Amino acid sequence: TTMSTLVVLHTFLIFSPIFATSAWSVNNFLMTGPKAYLTYSASVAVGAQSGIEECKYQFTWERWNCPEHTIQLASQKGLRSATRETSFVHAVSSAGVMYTLTKNCSMGDFDNCGCDESRNGKVGGRGWVWGGCSDNVEFGERISKLFVDGLETGQDARALMNLHNNEAGRLAVKSTMKRTCKCHGVSGSCSVQTCWLQLADFRDIGNHLKVKHDQALKLEMDKKKIRSGNSADNKGAIVDIFGSVARTELVFLEDSPDYCLKNGSLALQGTEGRECLQSGKNLSQWEKRSCRRLCIECGLKVEERRIESISSCNCKFHWCCTVKCEQCKHVVTKHYCSKREKPSSNSHPRRKTRGQNR
Ligand SMILES: *[C@@H]1O[C@H](CO)[C@@H](O)[C@H](O)[C@H]1NC(C)=O
Ligand SMILES: *[C@@H]1O[C@H](CO)[C@@H](O)[C@H](O)[C@H]1NC(C)=O
Ligand SMILES: *[C@@H]1O[C@H](CO)[C@@H](O)[C@H](O)[C@H]1NC(C)=O
Repeated sequence: TTMSTLVVLHTFLIFSPIFATSAWSVNNFLMTGPKAYLTYSASVAVGAQSGIEECKYQFTWERWNCPEHTIQLASQKGLRSATRETSFVHAVSSAGVMYTLTKNCSMGDFDNCGCDESRNGKVGGRGWVWGGCSDNVEFGERISKLFVDGLETGQDARALMNLHNNEAGRLAVKSTMKRTCKCHGVSGSCSVQTCWLQLADFRDIGNHLKVKHDQALKLEMDKKKIRSGNSADNKGAIVDIFGSVARTELVFLEDSPDYCLKNGSLALQGTEGRECLQSGKNLSQWEKRSCRRLCIECGLKVEERRIESISSCNCKFHWCCTVKCEQCKHVVTKHYCSKREKPSSNSHPRRKTRGQNR
């Protein structure tokens, strides 16, 4: 075999052009050669970004709303948190990378990979045969593992936690795949179908992982073990603990800080100033409770702001050929969390629970 050079690439994955300051510094990419790196790195970055966008969507009405800077912090040595939220960030970005690479593969974006046709022609079940283009998740899994897991160079509990959650994210991509079928047979009788496996919408994967986040397991280990995990005897004990948890479940090591409060050293903004939803057409239960969760239970009040905007309306077509519009004023009412005027002694009546109370 050819000796592949082990190249340590020091690079930055830019998650989002909108958040120019929010580069997630990604050190020590272990890749088998710069060529492989160049082929996939753009797709890896796109995938990681789509994971973070999904995180922001899933946590829009939560106290912790997937802020960019905590993601940045999460990857810096010494500042790495190991909370329930960290577990979600790792799972969803790992899933995003695998998802994008798999999609790329099915689209024919890479020379060395295509649809998974390994089962085509075989009987899959009653009345259906494998056929068509199944998404090649094995490829996506292999390459995303190389990139994303390659970031974990340590062997301590935090590294093992990240690796475990990365894998849970990848398994979510696999387990949400859907069978899609096409009918055959005399005049559309559908007596025979050919079926293939297709990736779910990424939203479905996000929803799936959000549930896993809500049910995430805290692994109890004493602090000494977390810190000194590189010594051989401790490592065995830590590996055993992780091995006892199903690979599909998210795990974390530390309790979350109080996301109601601003905390400079953790780069947390707190919920003051956040928008919440109080009125509006068919809100979900979760959305309806957002003002209570973000403001009231954090010792803040809900402030109503009326926001005026002017836009074109009553547009009429005139012969020929212009459109004339009127300018209409719209008033929208929005709600925000703001400080109470009078500080009172019992201004903190919130529950101690985290965001999982849906
Ligand atoms: C892979 O897909 C993403 C998003 O669909 C796209 O931005 C990227 O350019 C694709 N990669 C390649 C190599 O075509
Ligand atoms: C910030 O969070 C840390 C860790 O939870 C805590 O020890 C510290 O007291 C907090 N600081 C403030 C100002 O709340
Ligand atoms: C909003 O209400 C309509 C009609 O009642 C319903 O069809 C639709 O699914 C609802 N949308 C959401 C997001 O719940």
